[in-house]
Amino acid sequence: MKKVLVIYYTQSGQLLEIAKSITSDLEKEAEVAVSYYQIEMESPFRFPWKKEAFFNIFPETFLQIPAALKTEKIPEIEGEYDLVILAYQVWFLTPAIPVNSFLKNKVSDAVFKDTPVITVIGCRNMWIMAQEKIKTLLWAKKANLVGNIALVDRHVNHISVITISHWMFTGLKTKYLKIFPKPGVASVDIKNAARFGKYILKSLKENNYEQLQPALLREGAVKINPFLVLVDKRANFLFDKWARLIVTKGEKKGGKRLLWIKLFNLYLLFAIWFISPVVYLIYLISYPFSVVKIKKEKKYYAGVKKNL
Ligand SMILES: Cc1cc2nc3c(=O)[nH]c(=O)nc-3n(C[C@H](O)[C@H](O)[C@H](O)COP(=O)(O)O)c2cc1C
Repeated sequence: MKKVLVIYYTQSGQLLEIAKSITSDLEKEAEVAVSYYQIEMESPFRFPWKKEAFFNIFPETFLQIPAALKTEKIPEIEGEYDLVILAYQVWFLTPAIPVNSFLKNKVSDAVFKDTPVITVIGCRNMWIMAQEKIKTLLWAKKANLVGNIALVDRHVNHISVITISHWMFTGLKTKYLKIFPKPGVASVDIKNAARFGKYILKSLKENNYEQLQPALLREGAVKINPFLVLVDKRANFLFDKWARLIVTKGEKKGGKRLLWIKLFNLYLLFAIWFISPVVYLIYLISYPFSVVKIKKEKKYYAGVKKNL
């Protein structure tokens, strides 16, 4: 019997839907036992979000400061698994606080050590640098990253910013003003994620994951958009400055910090609506001179290896 554990954190349920679609072939196998474990926090993050709470988690998220888990001992996940599927969301270009906290806690030492791990991402569209951070966290756990599947909102960047705001602040995965497309990962993409299962099953049965990521890539498990990579990298650089500055402004609920959080919110809007179009123009102009670099980066970010 092969044992597979799906570790996940979701607020709307979208990520669990994605994970369950991917594991549907595994669930049908008599020789495979799939169990699910949802990461729970001592102080849960409310969904839908209040605007202030949403931006107030930015510094700790970005600086990857762990928060307390609901329990420091998790009986369900003790024991050895043949494969772990880690399904996570991205918050501010970084693994969400629950996932980061779980990976930084000793509670997850045993489950990851020397274990093959497949990461599954369900986010808006910007996950490249978050996955690099996950690679580092998994490496510290002595886990073996063997696969990655990233499902994103396929609409253009600015449209998905509007639609995800509607979703996050109302909790409704519906068409904003009835004219915008539905937010999040499309239902058809979630349903079709079941196609990845057969490759995972083959690797699991053969206990050989060498060819898994190439097979997943042929099936379109990951699509790298070089412009979004550029934005992700630049934004990481600037977010670092903002996060470090805001944490020096005192208590999480204190007045001075909240003022800086508001400034960050305004900066983010300015960056999305005014700076990113300029970056896009620069990207287009410099494209012919960056083809080789872009090709190399695309290959690296589509893979599961980590540049140390
Ligand atoms: C605080 C916060 C920040 C987010 N930041 C990003 C981000 O940087 N990149 C991205 O692609 N998605 C981002 N998202 C979207 C999430 O990754 C995810 O798609 C969304 O929260 C839905 O997840 P769920 O359905 O599993 O609850 C963010 C969401 C939240 C709540």
